Amino acid sequence: MTTSRIALVTGANQGLGRALVEGLAARMGPDDLVLLTGRNRQRVTDAAHEVAHAPSTRARVEAAVLDVTDTDAVARLADDLRARHGGVDVVVSNAVARVLPGDSQSARADEFIDVSNSATHAVLRSFGPLLRPGGRLLVVASSLGTLGHLDARLHGLFDEASLDQVEYAVESWRSAIHHGRATEQGWPLWLNVPSKVAQVAAVRAVAADRRERDLASGTLLAAVCPGMVDTATSRPWFEDYSHAQSPEQAAAAVLDLILAERVDPALYGELVRFGEALDWHSGTPPTEQDRLLTP
Ligand SMILES: NC(=O)c1ccc[n+]([C@@H]2O[C@H](COP(=O)([O-])OP(=O)(O)OC[C@H]3O[C@@H](n4cnc5c(N)ncnc54)[C@H](OP(=O)(O)O)[C@@H]3O)[C@@H](O)[C@H]2O)c1
Repeated sequence: MTTSRIALVTGANQGLGRALVEGLAARMGPDDLVLLTGRNRQRVTDAAHEVAHAPSTRARVEAAVLDVTDTDAVARLADDLRARHGGVDVVVSNAVARVLPGDSQSARADEFIDVSNSATHAVLRSFGPLLRPGGRLLVVASSLGTLGHLDARLHGLFDEASLDQVEYAVESWRSAIHHGRATEQGWPLWLNVPSKVAQVAAVRAVAADRRERDLASGTLLAAVCPGMVDTATSRPWFEDYSHAQSPEQAAAAVLDLILAERVDPALYGELVRFGEALDWHSGTPPTEQDRLLTP
């Protein structure tokens, strides 16, 4: 990485994203800049101010408004960073829309898909080319992001797919929800499963194209699973959250991956949980009980 590095985290005014910004700000240097981004100006300004003035903070911390559902805004921010800094060193696509247990999953589908999936595609497309040698581009997914969590009828949509094909699969899923055909086509009711599988598939698609070049320059593109984290989004889903990590605890393994000196080729393009790659084909479609236990 260069001596003056630029890091950016989406959905970073609270939860895991904020803990990632705090950790980057503490572990990067005074010449480095960490951009705390989120959709609401007041919330990102307040959070960036607090992190910037935390005793552990060493890097510069700035707020930037970025509603990730505005894909033009994602592209504009990338263009702006290219013009001002020539590139970017760390990008974490982390934002998620909060869906509560009482919400109708189908009624929330558009927002959920836009925040998790359309945004991931936009970040990969806009920031991938901007990543400097030695950089890190991570998409926060979850352990539900392996293919085996989907009905076997859907595997062909995501396995070894290009980014365009993943995007098509996501829009097919969205359309099936709108037309009341999702269940008959094998899509689970619970949005988080296809969404996380699609995020990992999108990372795998882009990684397949740039693997050799990235590994030669010590650059990492990967999806990450933070494990169970006690945040405002996950808490309503836990029957028992005594085993959940704090956002700071969950951020630690992700920060280790970001700040590692070298890239482990076994992790490149994979879904990484606590420093280990999860098998893409693993998992079984979740039951109702799983739905209650895993955010
Ligand atoms: N918590 C867990 O147990 C767990 C487990 C596995 C994976 N994950 C993943 O970890 C990531 C972070 O989750 P979390 O639990 O930390 O969630 P969280 O505390 O609810 O934080 C979500 C963040 O995303 C932001 N956001 C929502 N819509 C946005 C938009 N349109 N544009 C930009 N930002 C937006 C929220 O901003 P506002 O404050 O403005 O709403 C908030 O800052 C997600 O990808 C999630 O799927 C979490």
